Amino acid sequence: MKILFVAGDPKPERWTVPIKQQLPSAEIFVWDPDGPAVDADYAIVWQPPAALFEREKHLKAVFNLGAGIDGLLNVANLPEHLTVVRLEDAGMAVQMAEYVLHQLLEASREMETYREQQRTGVWKIHRPIKRSEWPVGVMGLGHIGTRVARTLADLDYQVSGWARTPRRLEGVSTYAGPEQLCDFLPSTRVLVNTLPLTDETRDIINYELLSQLQPGAVLINVGRGEHLVEDDLLRALDEGILHRASLDVFRKEPLPEAHPFWQRQEITITPHISARTLRDATIEQITGKIRDHAAGQAISGVVDINRGY
Ligand code: GLV
Repeated sequence: MKILFVAGDPKPERWTVPIKQQLPSAEIFVWDPDGPAVDADYAIVWQPPAALFEREKHLKAVFNLGAGIDGLLNVANLPEHLTVVRLEDAGMAVQMAEYVLHQLLEASREMETYREQQRTGVWKIHRPIKRSEWPVGVMGLGHIGTRVARTLADLDYQVSGWARTPRRLEGVSTYAGPEQLCDFLPSTRVLVNTLPLTDETRDIINYELLSQLQPGAVLINVGRGEHLVEDDLLRALDEGILHRASLDVFRKEPLPEAHPFWQRQEITITPHISARTLRDATIEQITGKIRDHAAGQAISGVVDINRGY
């Protein structure tokens, strides 16, 4: 079995050595832009070049080194019937839950105010949080959204979830499809986006959507930058429709130096770190699936290319 590793890691041996340990009989190759075809059976990729699919014609499956496969689906000549497998959780969901909780607490527990008070030596106690005043709505209920929703519900926040198709989740009120968005949004003050980026979800967080949230609304975007209409976010902040936003993903990454988001007090910016790909867990998951696929067994996480996730 031949496996081709195609990700812009300057130290690919960090991946290829443990992959070889897990699959000793496999031959492992690192993508060489100028090299010949290796006739790989499997490719492990992150935002691969289009040349991959021109050169490698017998790929049985491609494993994406991330949960979101928009970067892969953007490749111009992606073969129509290619089996694409995305990362499922692999340690990312718990990190996301932690990140979202942190950003929620920044708002609900007034952490910025207390930091400011410390700077000026002020000891002042604000009234305790009423959880009923901080209902959270999670868009996207895959592995990540589900973990986020459960974590916050376990902390007694009132949590609802919205997904493309109906989902049941204990302790979480769920809504489905575009027609139930208008019920979901008014029940939400803190909107958390964990959706995959597809043609249906691009630009979904726009002025119209933000204006349906409860007063004092907070946005936490850990999905993709293209979900958010950036000018609409600024307008919603200017008009007081939105109280604050925590953004981990952006249309252009790194966020350009001159971008207006940098100047806004109400926006917390992090550089796409809400959930890092954990190498050991990722390698274990992917090599396990390669082993199963090669043995003719069904594997989970196979992407429906038409659906987009
Ligand atoms: C990261 O953004 C991922 O899609 O896993």
